[in-house]
Amino acid sequence: MPRAVTGASYNNLGQLVNVCLSTAYAGKLPAIPNIAYEDKEHMSFLELLQKRKSCRSYCSDPVPREKIERCLEAARLAPSACNSQPWRFVVVESPQLKQEIADKAFGGVFAMNAFVRKAPVLIVVVRQRSRYAAMLGGALRGVQYSLIDVGIAGEHLALQAEEEGLGICWLGWFSERLLKKALGLGRQDKVDIVMSLGYADGQDSRLKTRKPPSEIWEFR
Ligand SMILES: Cc1cc2nc3c(=O)[nH]c(=O)nc-3n(C[C@H](O)[C@H](O)[C@H](O)COP(=O)(O)O)c2cc1C
Repeated sequence: MPRAVTGASYNNLGQLVNVCLSTAYAGKLPAIPNIAYEDKEHMSFLELLQKRKSCRSYCSDPVPREKIERCLEAARLAPSACNSQPWRFVVVESPQLKQEIADKAFGGVFAMNAFVRKAPVLIVVVRQRSRYAAMLGGALRGVQYSLIDVGIAGEHLALQAEEEGLGICWLGWFSERLLKKALGLGRQDKVDIVMSLGYADGQDSRLKTRKPPSEIWEFR
């Protein structure tokens, strides 16, 4: 089992499978050392990026509304093609609705993400249509800019969550149909990503693993 996986404790098999899948070749990748950043005031942006890791284990403490709002504000400030801002963020805090979503959209074959049940907050990223100029340009180029746009907004949100001392996880594996049904979303709306949010349940000692610069950088 990769070293990155053995460092943490996992509540259930799904969670373990999940981490194994996402770090499937961790053994072959350089690990980024864990550093404790006690003094947040001196944490650089790059250090914040190093520190952020997917959080798959949450404690039940509620997340203050103002922290959630700052995360949403970070997403709102994201750039987008033709400034389309093709997104809405549905924040699910209600325990009943969260339970329904966890049971339905994250049940069955999607149960590897069953840890969402324990997350105090789910943020559903709803992708909407871009402006016509962005759609036309995208069609000509064969690029769906709205996907890039929601990706940027989602990562803005995730990095602000890290800044707030919260744990967050991107979730792409769920039943979109059942999720949209539970939320009563329209046919035009697309949901590619859900994010689980909350205070992490303990320290995650897993090491972040990434391809080495020599594999992914080139200067010409
Ligand atoms: C688009 C996208 C979809 C993802 N879907 C899931 C998911 O369904 N379940 C999960 O546990 N992690 C998911 N992740 C998290 C990745 O597994 C994780 O970011 C990656 O393994 C790197 O680990 P790190 O975030 O801890 O640095 C997703 C990440 C992205 C960007």
